Amino acid sequence: MSHDILHATIGHVPLFSGLGDGEIDLLRQVGIKKTFAKGTLLMSEGGHGESLFIVQTGKVKVFLSDPDGKEVILSILGPGDFIGEMALIDNEPRSAGVMSMEAVELFVISKADFRSCLAKNPELAANLMKGLCQRLRAADRHIESLALMDVYGRVARALLDLAEHADGKLVINQRLTHKDIGNMVGASREMVSRIFRDLTNAGYIRVEDRRIIVNDILPALP
Ligand code: CMP
Repeated sequence: MSHDILHATIGHVPLFSGLGDGEIDLLRQVGIKKTFAKGTLLMSEGGHGESLFIVQTGKVKVFLSDPDGKEVILSILGPGDFIGEMALIDNEPRSAGVMSMEAVELFVISKADFRSCLAKNPELAANLMKGLCQRLRAADRHIESLALMDVYGRVARALLDLAEHADGKLVINQRLTHKDIGNMVGASREMVSRIFRDLTNAGYIRVEDRRIIVNDILPALP
C-alpha cells in the first residue's frame, strides 16, 4: 500500500499499543484532529511545547536550520509516528522544527492529557521508551554516516533507508528534491544531482512516475 494513503488510526499506533479500550476512548475524546497544508511549520525549534502530535496521514520533516536558511533534515516521519514528546517530557524548548512535506492529518493531545495518561499507563511509558530508542539508533546511524562515509555512500545509504518494498521493487514513495536529500546527508543540491546522474547511468536507480526506484544492487557502504 502506498504511504500516501496509509492512515494511522489512534487505536493502532505503536505508541498506544497495549492500552485498554477505555484509555483509547478517553484519548479519542480529549484529542483533536487537525489538518494542515503542505509546507506548514507545525513546530518551531526553540518554541514552547504544549502538545503531542500523532501523524495520521502524510509526511513531516524534522529539521534544524541556521539564520542563513541552511538546514539539516534529522528525520522524516509519517503515519503512526509521534512528534513533540521531548518538550513535554523534559519541559525544555522544542528541540527542532517540524514542517509538513505534504498535506497532513494530525491527532493532537494536550500536554496535561498526555502526562496524565503517561502517569497512569506503564505500557505508554514503555512504548515511548521503545520509540525513543529507535530514534537514537537512527540518529547513531546518521552520525556514523556523516563521520565515516563519503558523500556517495551517504546518498546511497539515505536512498536505501528511505526505500520500501512495493510490487517487488524498492521504491521511494516520498517525493524528495535533490535539495531535500542534500539536507539529509550534508551535501549541496549540485553534488546530489551529480551523484544521481552517476547512479542512474550505472543502473543503480531510475525514476518512474516521479518516484525513485532503487535497484537492490545499490551498494550499502561501508
Ligand atoms: P520536541 O523537541 O518537543 O519538538 C520537536 C520534535 O521533533 C521532538 O520533540 C521530536 O518529536 C522530534 N525530533 C527531534 N529530533 C528528532 C530525531 N533525531 N529523530 C526523530 N524525531 C526527532
